[in-house]
Amino acid sequence: MSQQNDSVAQWAEKYATSTPQDILKLALQEYNNIAISFSGAEDVVLVDMAVKLNPSVKVFSLDTGRLHAETYKYLEEVRLHYNIELEVLFPQSQAVETLVREHGLYSFYNDGHQACCGVRKVEPLRRKLNTIDAWITGQRRDQSPTRSNVPVVQVDPAFSTPDHSLIKFNPLAEWSSEQVWAYIRENNVPYNALHAKGFTSIGCEPCTRAVLPNQHEREGRWWWENSASKECGLHSGNLAKA
Ligand code: ADX
Ligand code: SF4
Repeated sequence: MSQQNDSVAQWAEKYATSTPQDILKLALQEYNNIAISFSGAEDVVLVDMAVKLNPSVKVFSLDTGRLHAETYKYLEEVRLHYNIELEVLFPQSQAVETLVREHGLYSFYNDGHQACCGVRKVEPLRRKLNTIDAWITGQRRDQSPTRSNVPVVQVDPAFSTPDHSLIKFNPLAEWSSEQVWAYIRENNVPYNALHAKGFTSIGCEPCTRAVLPNQHEREGRWWWENSASKECGLHSGNLAKA
């Protein structure tokens, strides 16, 4: 395992300023049991790039049960457009029922988002990650202060276990929002209709709102909470480093 960790550290250095395509190529060459974690937002560029490298690349999305109607339509559009098998993961029904019975449908406005995200996002993600060797995310350093140190590849600080070193590729880490959107336009990539309605970052419907010109892109996420700690648990490993 430590040999693998050494390779990851070397890749992180060697590929620090490589293109997302070259980082994806490395990821798909080195790992067969690997999947893209697709949120249904502008991280679609990863799907576009990866399908061009391997048309049968694995892609999964976490359906929290609270996504926007536009996002459901968009997930289907992406599935059909790229002819991919999109794996949609659901939370444990019992856990959701307990959360809602005990705390209601909007507990996050009062108690913070961690409990609901834990049930609806983190548990299904952990279940999935336990079955693969590496995952690919659309995290970028320009998204948030919590992400300013995100490397292009790392041993996942949150989901690795003593017996399972999980590798996390972040091919867009170095890209700016401008670069992502230039790619989307130049390559005619389909995008979520919410982007045309003022949404820059897209998460669950009750926890995401449109932003005004010049607001930072994640200001519309969990807007009632302190901006320094806006991670839902998918990337909580970033918080220790921020
Ligand atoms: S979040 O942690 O705040 O929700 P964000 O929306 O910025 O994350 O997305 C960053 C990356 O996390 C995405 O590019 C994607 O890889 C992963 N991600 C976020 N939400 C989901 C989701 N619902 N399903 C799958 N992956 C997701
Ligand atoms: Fe729940 Fe909001 Fe987290 Fe979605 S983003 S899982 S609705 S707290």
